[in-house]
Amino acid sequence: MKEENSHYFSREPGGKIKVHLFSVSLRKHLYAFKTLPGVFSYKKLDLGTKVLIEHADIPQEPSILLDLGCGYGPIGMVLARESPESTIYFVDINKRAIWCVKENIKLNFPDDRKRLIVLEGNYFDGLKDKSIKFDGIYMNPPQRKGRKEFLSLCERVPHYLRHEGIFQFIMRKKMGAPYIHKYLREFYKEGEVEILCKRSGYWVFKCIFR
Ligand SMILES: C[S@@+](CC[C@H](N)C(=O)[O-])C[C@H]1O[C@@H](n2cnc3c(N)ncnc32)[C@H](O)[C@@H]1O
Repeated sequence: MKEENSHYFSREPGGKIKVHLFSVSLRKHLYAFKTLPGVFSYKKLDLGTKVLIEHADIPQEPSILLDLGCGYGPIGMVLARESPESTIYFVDINKRAIWCVKENIKLNFPDDRKRLIVLEGNYFDGLKDKSIKFDGIYMNPPQRKGRKEFLSLCERVPHYLRHEGIFQFIMRKKMGAPYIHKYLREFYKEGEVEILCKRSGYWVFKCIFR
């Protein structure tokens, strides 16, 4: 059943099912994306996503990486291209986003699909192997769901990262990036919280856990 008053973060958003297709160049590679109404920023790549992708630290060595709240998958696709020996997990709660990311894997990585794993579910609850630990978690969070949900997610993140694992995300300054920065520096005392860059009203965070 389609949800009333659906959002891009609904499990089953409503609205017409009409596939959009666009291409975009990121870190000097071209990607094609299929998207659907009801999926976050389905008409064009979100500016915050672009800022995160262009400035994120991406490991070159084989790693296990997670695109958390993947939408149609732009962040994870770039991780897959830039870190060609890594395994990339994509997780989202929105069924249409899950359909799109599966299509986009076929489009952009037709011969390399085994290392790209798509899971539908509520954040980490979507992971079948609950003991899995990542080298990196990347995210453009659903800021419209509010700060409380994001902070409680931040508190769960260390359980899913290996030693020296990194959590990278984007936050708008006007949505409270300075507050989040202060909060995380106090909460992640064992690690480091740095701002990789500030661009177009967005702050790119990099948190390292020890
Ligand atoms: C701001 S969008 C970013 C989407 C995509 N990463 C991008 O950059 O285009 C946040 C995403 O988080 C997903 N999301 C929201 N709540 C979630 C939850 N509880 N579990 C998993 N994903 C969730 C939404 O469906 C949405 O796709």
